[in-house]
Amino acid sequence: MFFVDFPRQIVIGILVYLTEMKKIGIITSGGDSPGMNACLRAVVRTAVHHKIEVIGFYKGYEGLIDNDAVNLTTTSVSGIIQRGGTILKTARSARFMKEEGINSAAKNIKDLGIEGFVIIGGDGSFRGAIELSKKINIPIVGCAGTIDNDLVGTDFTIGYDTAINTVVEAVDKIRDTAESHDRVFVIEVMGRDAGLIALRSAIASGAEALLVPEMKNDIDILLKKIKNWRSSKSSKIIIVAEGDEYGGAYKVGDLIRKTCPEFDVRVTVLGHIQRGGNPTCMERVNASLIGYNAVLALKNGHKNEMVGIINKKICFTPFEKAVKHIETLDRDLLNMIEVLSS
Ligand code: F6P
Repeated sequence: MFFVDFPRQIVIGILVYLTEMKKIGIITSGGDSPGMNACLRAVVRTAVHHKIEVIGFYKGYEGLIDNDAVNLTTTSVSGIIQRGGTILKTARSARFMKEEGINSAAKNIKDLGIEGFVIIGGDGSFRGAIELSKKINIPIVGCAGTIDNDLVGTDFTIGYDTAINTVVEAVDKIRDTAESHDRVFVIEVMGRDAGLIALRSAIASGAEALLVPEMKNDIDILLKKIKNWRSSKSSKIIIVAEGDEYGGAYKVGDLIRKTCPEFDVRVTVLGHIQRGGNPTCMERVNASLIGYNAVLALKNGHKNEMVGIINKKICFTPFEKAVKHIETLDRDLLNMIEVLSS
């Protein structure tokens, strides 16, 4: 029996070895976000555990076009789980928007014998992945990495939790001076197309109002509200998402000055401070889970999908669907702000 089975087992073993993925590529792409390093670490260490070699490309699609590659090992990702930014660097690649750039990236992937690919990034990066997948027939999986939290298919993108905590810390500080001087503060937060950073940070910082791209004509409501503020109200914080239709915090500040000259108005734009800093605990855990599952997904045959977490469960969303922006904000949260900020 042993002599009959032995060669069969060897044949099966060889077949399994031949069909198993042995080399994957990875980039971090688009705007960096805290937690990208934790995700990268999880991808590399999970791959190494499964005897898969990992090639990293610097500066996102730029490095892929130029073949600016590095072999990533367990030690390459030591000591990075707590660091903001991305050790692989990142870029918004204009060259990858053109046929020539995509062809060059696809050729480099083929020449290096890469059999699967992981992209840590946001909607622009996943749009790039869709184009890349038309040129190479290898599975690509995405790890949702952006501070904006505007991808469909995950409760929280990598970077969002840290960014909103950064905003809340800054608004708490601004509140001290705002209340001391009885001033109205208009604070601009990031979110070109989405008001999700504004929404949660407004709730957590106890802001009086918010302006977001998802809601139209909210300025009229805001101005009316300001007019009716009770005189004893010392907190007057308005959070504005940068993508809001009224053109950012400075324009909103001017409008308030014109309509309500009785108020002393100041404007603060928080800017890129929101993209940096050490990832929060929740960020590190989620980023690790997403990176770990990205490798398992490649091994299990997932293709052109984003890995996300919904209700604590890992889930997969095709890139085409993931990049559709979240167009409505949670009504319950908006209503709650109205009540709590009275
Ligand atoms: O990555 C998302 C984001 O932080 C947006 O919130 C913001 O509008 C944009 O990136 C800024 O990008 P950049 O750093 O390229 O100016």
